[in-house]
Amino acid sequence: MRIGILTGGGDCPGLNAVLRAVVKKGLQCDIEVLGILNGWKGLLDGEAEPLSEVRVSGIIDRGGTLIGTSRTNPMKNPNGLQLCRQTWERFGLQGLIAVGGDDTLSVAAKFHEAGLPVVGVPKTIDNDIASTDFTFGFDTAVSIATEAIDRLHTTAESHQRIMVCEVMGRHAGWIATFAGLASGADCIIIPEFPMRMAKVAEIINERRKKGKSFSLVVIAEGAKPEFAADVIKQSMKLDEFGHVRLGGVGHLVAEEIERLTGIETRVTILGHVQRGGTPTAFDRILATRFGLAAIGLVLERQWGMMVALRGNEIVPVPLKEATATKKLVPREWFALAEVFFG
Ligand code: F6P
Repeated sequence: MRIGILTGGGDCPGLNAVLRAVVKKGLQCDIEVLGILNGWKGLLDGEAEPLSEVRVSGIIDRGGTLIGTSRTNPMKNPNGLQLCRQTWERFGLQGLIAVGGDDTLSVAAKFHEAGLPVVGVPKTIDNDIASTDFTFGFDTAVSIATEAIDRLHTTAESHQRIMVCEVMGRHAGWIATFAGLASGADCIIIPEFPMRMAKVAEIINERRKKGKSFSLVVIAEGAKPEFAADVIKQSMKLDEFGHVRLGGVGHLVAEEIERLTGIETRVTILGHVQRGGTPTAFDRILATRFGLAAIGLVLERQWGMMVALRGNEIVPVPLKEATATKKLVPREWFALAEVFFG
């Protein structure tokens, strides 16, 4: 049997661990794996690389993706599905594993509806895919953000400053909530639970009155402050899935906090540092388990399904269900964080 695998959307630590698991397990089950280059673009353009056992050896600890990624949306092209079908037939594929976030998996769901045999593997540092408790990449991003905030802590303390740290999270504030909790932030601002700037200033002022000499504020890039008409964008250019490039809310919020408190405030925007480099052991193992389970779905011809983590089990869920909504931070998770700044 011959299948393809592609990685789409923003890259994420753990993608190589999935490729390694799929290829190694696949070969043991007589499945040959073709790496489709640069996400859906490779299927449109007919670009692929056969993945041998040697090619995927020694990559479990490597960030990024061996076969490249892109934000190409084949559905934007009126002939996209047809072109992909042609490549599919030319490559002699009998199935495809699509590893991606919401956008990539939504395309996979459409391919399945069109009769193409596809299974999905969820990935994103944002952890916002419905139907799975966690996505790989998230733990790495949280670890990087936590370490960064710990470092901001010592310099903030030395200068008695307020430090604002902006982390990724377009629609969901999972990274901000977890990293903020883990690093003992004074305030966490996320898209799901907007906080007024006066409230942030009040929390900081109260703590300063009690003798605290530094303050840490963590904000998700997609949080919209009440003084802004919309989320803060770096660029208005839309990608093929209709997303603008976010970034910079930390600067505006820091200015406002400094104005309201009169305390010197500095900003750090972590950006792509959160997505690069070596995955944590947790992410390597989750990605490996997802890869092995995806081969299981291929063997059982469970097309149109996505592997998901539920508790400690890996289970199949319909791609359609997983891509129908986003998994936002629920009130009970945010309430945990609020214990420390509410
Ligand atoms: O993959 C999701 C994400 O991490 C978002 O949080 C962020 O807005 C986006 O990627 C940025 O990705 P890129 O710079 O690759 O477009």
